[in-house]
Amino acid sequence: MARIKIFDTTLRDGEQSPGVTLNNREKREIARQLARLGVDVIEAGFPVASEGDFESVRQIAAASGEENPNVVVAGLARAHRGDIERAAAALEGATKPRIHTFIATSPIHMDKKLALEPAQVVERAVEAVKLAKSFVDDVEFSAEDAGRSDPAFLAEIFAATVAAGATTINVPDTVGYMTPWEYGRLIEGLFEAVPQLRDVDVSTHCHDDLGFAVANSLAGVKAGATQVECTINGIGERAGNASLEEIVMALETRKDVWGHETNIQTRELYRTSRLVSMMTGMVVPPNKAVVGDNAFAHESGIHQDGVIKAIETYEIMSAETVGRDAGVLVMGKHSGRRAFRKSLEDLGYATLPDDEVDHLFKEFKDLCDRKTSVTSDDIRALVDSETTRVPETFKLTSVQFQSGTGVTPVATVRMEVRGEALEEAAVGDGPVDAIYHAIERLTGMHLRLESYEIRSVGHGKDALGEVSVRARHEDRVVHARGLSTDVVEASAKAYVEVMNKLAAGLGRGAGDPHPSASVDAVEATQA
Ligand code: KIV
Ligand code: ZN
Repeated sequence: MARIKIFDTTLRDGEQSPGVTLNNREKREIARQLARLGVDVIEAGFPVASEGDFESVRQIAAASGEENPNVVVAGLARAHRGDIERAAAALEGATKPRIHTFIATSPIHMDKKLALEPAQVVERAVEAVKLAKSFVDDVEFSAEDAGRSDPAFLAEIFAATVAAGATTINVPDTVGYMTPWEYGRLIEGLFEAVPQLRDVDVSTHCHDDLGFAVANSLAGVKAGATQVECTINGIGERAGNASLEEIVMALETRKDVWGHETNIQTRELYRTSRLVSMMTGMVVPPNKAVVGDNAFAHESGIHQDGVIKAIETYEIMSAETVGRDAGVLVMGKHSGRRAFRKSLEDLGYATLPDDEVDHLFKEFKDLCDRKTSVTSDDIRALVDSETTRVPETFKLTSVQFQSGTGVTPVATVRMEVRGEALEEAAVGDGPVDAIYHAIERLTGMHLRLESYEIRSVGHGKDALGEVSVRARHEDRVVHARGLSTDVVEASAKAYVEVMNKLAAGLGRGAGDPHPSASVDAVEATQA
């Protein structure tokens, strides 16, 4: 059975999602989890876009052999010398480096954005592939906006770039315009017109503007594509990219249709989805296929009756296959540190350093005092918080509030501010608002709350509450999360975490180049 390569672009195209701000440490954590998940290629970023992007690609490349020696690390580069040299430098430490270079091929992009004739575009593409090839063996060429390009022109540029040494040819539906049958036919036609494509990997890269990203990618596979580009939870520019977990589970569940397998450890899918959601602040809708909270929930009596009699009546894949063993009681308040470490290992966290395990164990004990049962989901949520922890310039000691119908909400917050114990009280529109005012007084930082989301981890009345906030301080935007059995306390923790991230210089500033913005800006100046 032929294997389809999974090319994950969560850290590049996914990071271009509006409002997403990942710092280097978060990117490294996601990359590590992607390697554990078993993706074939991690597109780590766009090194020329900014110093931060360069540095995170460099660090991910340098660490790439540790988690999975077979994983390829790719860096994006426009078809320009500077971009390619920068990508090559960032990828130097990778065990398996790939330069991914691209140029637009649709009439509208060539004319309006690049102001280049088709022949000049082919020339640039060939030069770019040859230059990339002088640094690495593994070179991918993408025809941006292939979905709206002339198929005959695509055939010409692909034949030329394969001859120049490209080892993967990518056919992006950049604006999510195509239907599955058109996309499948495009790939088939390219194989007919350019038989040399059989000697390289042909890749799909579909955006979701009309909701076809996954269907188009799978139509491409049916037509002979051997690589799929996708992101965790389908995040990405505008409506996003094809969702990795949906592609993988479709190939897995319907082997009878596609006849392919992947390298993906499907049991890592749920955890990866949670990690990306938590770090990007992009909440997964409950009805999202495979990883949404309701994806395996049976609500109607008829369905419940069916699954009790035979699970296959209403389930085409099992929750366990995608790593959803939520609700399993892992440990209790009498468990010791050694047993705790063992259960972390069982959940896949074998390499956490001792100081992080110590801190987690303390949090776990606190949780045991507040919850009747601690599940694997709770432990995962604690570990995810631990991996994004930053130095505590501000430390929340306690929150108290009074609120109710006809009562002006008032909150008292105690904190350690740079080591000094302080207390403040404030009123607000509600308990969270009052607490946020008190925290602002204590820290002297005034933020604009851009988004506030709340979800429960697990089920039942004593489920953990997870609050995710995005806030702006002057020109910087930061996302953070707080976890507690009490949602008001979780709200306070999330806000304090935002302050700590700001104090640590994290977040994205208005002046920082954004990958997508800089692509357009540089190409516009060249046009
Ligand atoms: O959507 C697109 O065309 C891209 C390319 C850079 C591959 O992301
Ligand atoms: Zn894209």
